[in-house]
Amino acid sequence: MRVLVTGAAGMLGSQLLLDAPAGVEVFGTDLAPAGAREGPVFAHGGVDLGEPEEVERLLDEIAPLDAILHCAAYTAVDRAEEEPELAHRVNALAPENVAQAAQERGLFMVLVSTDFVFDGRGHEPYRPTDPKAPLGVYGRTKLEGEERSNRAHPEGLAIVRTQWLYGPRGEHFPGTMLRLASQRDELKVVDDQVGSPTSTLELSPALWDVLRKRATGIYHAACEGRASWYDFAKAILELWDDNTPVHPCGTEEFPRPAPRPAFSVLDCSDLTRLRGRALEPWRIALSNYHRAESQVRHE
Ligand SMILES: NC(=O)c1ccc[n+]([C@@H]2O[C@H](COP(=O)([O-])OP(=O)(O)OC[C@H]3O[C@@H](n4cnc5c(N)ncnc54)[C@H](OP(=O)(O)O)[C@@H]3O)[C@@H](O)[C@H]2O)c1
Repeated sequence: MRVLVTGAAGMLGSQLLLDAPAGVEVFGTDLAPAGAREGPVFAHGGVDLGEPEEVERLLDEIAPLDAILHCAAYTAVDRAEEEPELAHRVNALAPENVAQAAQERGLFMVLVSTDFVFDGRGHEPYRPTDPKAPLGVYGRTKLEGEERSNRAHPEGLAIVRTQWLYGPRGEHFPGTMLRLASQRDELKVVDDQVGSPTSTLELSPALWDVLRKRATGIYHAACEGRASWYDFAKAILELWDDNTPVHPCGTEEFPRPAPRPAFSVLDCSDLTRLRGRALEPWRIALSNYHRAESQVRHE
């Protein structure tokens, strides 16, 4: 099987390249030139998926392909409020371009999406079919990307929504907490936003399973259990043996340009049924990530 991973220089895409199952020949593409960032090297850098012709050219170059894992996105949630057109191009138009080309070539496509399609006013884990009501530009453009892709390729598309990602590469919450803890005497972290911290080391094999099973439809994929950002920060500092005190606070103490959903726990039972198991509980996933990081540091 020959599979293209978009966003191959990103946090999730780079992990997917490394986790390609035996028998899969994997190709990576990103806006960045190949080798511009830390991570596995991919051959097809410098491709803008917002341009339909560039998508066509890339797919012709790699043909024959069987499937596409589409991770490329505009992920700067706050900056998206100031750059709505760029966010729309990358999150809404690029997936449509990819879905259209996939449909014409008979390729299966997995589109990675987000909990930000919901408003976070719920109290029960969100099911894939629950009403969507994004709060900001990022969520709105990602939702439009879901809808456009589905219209372009309804028979061969899986949409997988995830959340609170971290992993061995890229910028993420654990990295930010450890950096701030090394610079400050104490930290304040919001405890009124609840979700499920999710490691790319857990998510990546689940995405490969969705692709191999060609499971169409919408799935939610996150580590088991729930936490506030404060809970998550405490667990990170404990694991990394950092004694910097952490205090809980409310979202109003950290005003951000883009509003965040207060409750964004996802109901992942469809994915659990599909795979026969859930993603690891978030604390176990975090300690697995910690172990993997420590090994790299000691090599
Ligand atoms: N990170 C999270 O917490 C989180 C949560 C929920 C869902 N997700 C979703 O998970 C997926 C992967 O996220 P991630 O955190 O791995 O994102 P990431 O690290 O920001 O990677 C996305 C990649 O897409 C590239 N890209 C941007 N515009 C492009 C274009 N026009 N053509 C081709 N490539 C382009 C980016 O390049 P540049 O960096 O050069 O722009 C970047 O390398 C995304 O769909 C995201 O919406 C992420």
